[in-house]
Amino acid sequence: MKLGILTSGGDCAGLNAVIRAIGLYALDNIKNAEIVGIPGGYGGLIAGESFPLKRADLEDILDRGGTILGTSRQPFKMMTVPEGGTSRLETMCANYRKTGLDCLFVLGGAGTHRTAALLSSEGCNVIGLPKTIDNDIYGTDVTFGFQTAVEVVTESIDRYRTTAAGHGRTMIVEVMGNKAGWLALHAGIAAGADMILLPEIPFSVDAVCTYIERKNARAAGASGWEKPYTLIVAAEGAVLDAERRFKKKERAFIRTERGETTVTPHLAEIIRARTGMETRVAVPGYLQRGGTPCAYDRLLSSRLGGYAARLAAEGKFGVSVAVSGNRITFNALAEIAGRYKLVDPRGELVAFARGIGISFGDR
Ligand code: F6P
Repeated sequence: MKLGILTSGGDCAGLNAVIRAIGLYALDNIKNAEIVGIPGGYGGLIAGESFPLKRADLEDILDRGGTILGTSRQPFKMMTVPEGGTSRLETMCANYRKTGLDCLFVLGGAGTHRTAALLSSEGCNVIGLPKTIDNDIYGTDVTFGFQTAVEVVTESIDRYRTTAAGHGRTMIVEVMGNKAGWLALHAGIAAGADMILLPEIPFSVDAVCTYIERKNARAAGASGWEKPYTLIVAAEGAVLDAERRFKKKERAFIRTERGETTVTPHLAEIIRARTGMETRVAVPGYLQRGGTPCAYDRLLSSRLGGYAARLAAEGKFGVSVAVSGNRITFNALAEIAGRYKLVDPRGELVAFARGIGISFGDR
């Protein structure tokens, strides 16, 4: 059985751990298993490239960050557009057959899964694995890479807190998460943030500034160095309620006019003007995706990879592996493609956070 593996979209911790688990399970449990890596995501499949992955290539990569296969972003909307008479989808299917694959494991996020579903509908045997620090893939409780990012962001916020406290500043920590605010929500709660701003809960500048002013008023009259500070964790996709009426493109245009891509620099300016507080924006950036996976992600990646290889051995294709409760299971690709798992503004986690005094900047 010839098994291909590719990693697509933004990297995250745990990709190599998954590749290792697929490979080791297959080599130990599938007769005549042959494993190949497709380099550079769907780009490698479009180019018809592959290279062998031997046991020795896999054994020592459990804790390695990034991806030994390389990755790229290939826009979904381009997949079915004919280019010189042939679409990328058709080229990928032809190369899947030319390479002699019996199964292709696709490690990626929501966009990657949409393309995986297309490949599957064209007759390729595909198994998806849910990767992303955004944790927004529909049908799985958790994605690999997410928990490591939560750890990294939580530690960063702890550090930003000490400098914010030392200066009595408002610190806005902008974390990744364009559509979904899971990372901001989990790390924000874990690091004891005062306020968490999410794409799913538009915020108002009045509510944000009133919160800060009340916090400052509570600290008034304290002795010693008791200057109040406020710690805000904002997802990069956070939106002002006033921006809601604009389409995504219009919003991007307005922000570009201001020389900004996210709302946090604008919010910082407003906070400075309205409350008089020194305000800084801190962006941990790609630190959130890089480096070694935490123990949770090593375990999760190993379970997901091993399970996916077992599905291949059983001839179960057209699915993506998933976590449900504490069980590893799978969903049909057709079922999850194009759907996102977003934070529920009325859900338990948001309600609990509100209950312990965390503001979402909306009231
Ligand atoms: O992979 C998901 C993600 O990390 C998002 O949270 C973020 O918006 C995006 O990738 C950044 O993408 P790029 O690597 O293309 O800058």
